Amino acid sequence: MLDTAIRNATIITAGDRYIAQIGIRNGRIITIAEDVGPAHEEIDATGLWVMPGGIDAHVHLEQPQGPNVVMADGFESGTRSAAAGGTTTVMPFALQQKGQSLREVVDAYHAAAKDKCHVDCSFHIIITDPTPQVLGQELPALVKAGYTSFKVFMTYDDMVLNDAQLLDVFDVARREKAMVMVHAEGYDAIRYMTRRLEEAGHTAPYFHAESRPESVEREATHRAISHAELTDVPIMIVHVSGREPMEQIQWAKRRGRKLYAETCPQYIALTANNLKGLNMDFEGAKYVCSPPPRDTDSQKAIWEGLRDGTFDIFSSDHCPFRFDDPKGKSVEGARTSFRWVPNGIPGIETRLPILFSEGIVKGRITPERFVALTATNPAKLFGMYPQKGTIAIGADADLTLWDPQRQVTISQSLMHHDCDYTPYEGMQVTGWPVRTILRGQTIMANGAITGTTDIGTYIDRGLSAAFTA
Ligand code: URP
Ligand code: ZN
Ligand code: ZN
Ligand code: ZN
Repeated sequence: MLDTAIRNATIITAGDRYIAQIGIRNGRIITIAEDVGPAHEEIDATGLWVMPGGIDAHVHLEQPQGPNVVMADGFESGTRSAAAGGTTTVMPFALQQKGQSLREVVDAYHAAAKDKCHVDCSFHIIITDPTPQVLGQELPALVKAGYTSFKVFMTYDDMVLNDAQLLDVFDVARREKAMVMVHAEGYDAIRYMTRRLEEAGHTAPYFHAESRPESVEREATHRAISHAELTDVPIMIVHVSGREPMEQIQWAKRRGRKLYAETCPQYIALTANNLKGLNMDFEGAKYVCSPPPRDTDSQKAIWEGLRDGTFDIFSSDHCPFRFDDPKGKSVEGARTSFRWVPNGIPGIETRLPILFSEGIVKGRITPERFVALTATNPAKLFGMYPQKGTIAIGADADLTLWDPQRQVTISQSLMHHDCDYTPYEGMQVTGWPVRTILRGQTIMANGAITGTTDIGTYIDRGLSAAFTA
């Protein structure tokens, strides 16, 4: 007998759409058929769409921010918010601070996550201190142990790598077959622009956007692509904000480079105008993230890229700071210059509904493409496929049931995160996740969290499809 049967489901995967029943036992899908037979638990999915649970391959939870700033979400509230938004696997970043060994970093992050996860979880590593010991021993050992991806930064005082360091990291990635995610913004150009804006008295949050225009992202994107060519390694450009960096990615893809790209909800649902707040006031700090949202032409470009394969994955870049909090957006100095406003916005819960509504319901992308961008491709590119990211026999029973007609006005009162605002307040969406199932267990039903924090497990990963395909 099955543990659970889902009846009358309109099943949508990256490649198919059909009506069938799904049979679940011991947390896995064991049958998909016209009639899967009796089960202990019955779920009637009439009128609902059943999609693979979302995989959010880019979130920041409980990431150290120096002495004065604290991230709004740790593992518990962050994964609770993920579950409420239809996401069943999250990939936060274990940050190496200068001087730390990577093993120490990863062990501490596991300790922070232990028994605190409503959904499954797997870590990327942020490399900020690529010493010979880190590159020669620690990183290779961790890739072999299943940490098959890491992130590097081309900007930020505490994290920036210079070109020589980037090349060295890329070289290790090729040898060890790891996926490198690149934050592509030019450090020196941002510092120059920041100084100039401050000298002119332009210090409001809006000027964060002016301090890092698209050309700064375009230049760094091109530089990262060139370094990846030199070292012959696939890389992923993350949080791409608009047309100009996209053109660099398209150029490289046309030349046959194995290059991957990610974009995020803020680049389809926000613009730099949001950073103006109400008449250039501090309200704009709610939208300060990097790269910043651009303009409506960029949004149009992003949609083209989501359709035509320029983008491979769609992640939240959830990076929450409380607005009304001296350890968040309102940190000391933030009102004197945008330079001190912590970068990042919440979005782990709203990622899928925004793409569903703005993408599928408005006819910009198909439901199959939605699944590819939000579940199947991240699973493949980060070494979790086919355990995760699809609806197939043998796969984990990670499923999200959608009411494609449900109309919701996004508001902070609906959110399950520990941030004190949502940047999408008041946005009307059609289509909402009404049940989230993690390895066969319902962890969210009609907005209520029904799972516990010991349900989520750590996922050891294999190689990225970038190295196996
Ligand atoms: O502003 C952002 N995106 N903060 C998060 C850190 C990052 O660069 O992804
Ligand atoms: Zn039984
Ligand atoms: Zn980044
Ligand atoms: Zn990020």
